[in-house]
Amino acid sequence: MSYELKSARWLAADILRQVLSEGDEAVDATMGNGHDTEALCRLVGPSGHVYAFDIQAQAVGKTGQRLTDAGLADRASLFHTGHEHMREKVPHAVRLVMFNLGWLPGSDHLITTRLQTTLAAVEQGLELLLPGGVLLICVYPGHEEGAREQEALIRYLSSLPPQRFNVLRQTFLNAGPGAPECLVVQKAFA
Ligand SMILES: C[S@@+](CC[C@H](N)C(=O)[O-])C[C@H]1O[C@@H](n2cnc3c(N)ncnc32)[C@H](O)[C@@H]1O
Repeated sequence: MSYELKSARWLAADILRQVLSEGDEAVDATMGNGHDTEALCRLVGPSGHVYAFDIQAQAVGKTGQRLTDAGLADRASLFHTGHEHMREKVPHAVRLVMFNLGWLPGSDHLITTRLQTTLAAVEQGLELLLPGGVLLICVYPGHEEGAREQEALIRYLSSLPPQRFNVLRQTFLNAGPGAPECLVVQKAFA
């Protein structure tokens, strides 16, 4: 048996593999160093497309280089702008939208995702989903802004109408306070 519960990031990656198929379109709302953008590009294949966002030029540069090195650059559109502009940049409905909140590993911790823009982008991401599409959020309540994001996201996602969305909160109950969580929303199929 190879199944092993590891982390919120691992849970999100497992869901990506189940949801995405060749030819799909997806959004990476927090590009960072491009690991998730690359994974999405591989899953959607040569006939799919990925739209990725980050407010830091360094993140866009690193992700662009990563995709070029992997021969995947033509599968993605990289936007050096906040995910709160997703609605203007993504031309049509997508199968999956993902957020990995917080800051760019190895860089300034002050440049982190923020409650107001995160909520605006999640709202837009839910509108963009195809029927049956999935929105994933990895949230890190171990730091102050992450705790605020977690609280507001849980309040907002709990209020979504169950006829239109199923909402799941995956949390490691024995990992102590501040443990990362994976929030999963699926839009109804009809
Ligand atoms: C935890 S990192 C993402 C890691 C990334 N998914 C990867 O695979 O390497 C979070 C990223 O969100 C970015 N970010 C912060 N505010 C943002 C916003 N409003 N819109 C888009 N990205 C934002 C940060 O610059 C940072 O690079």
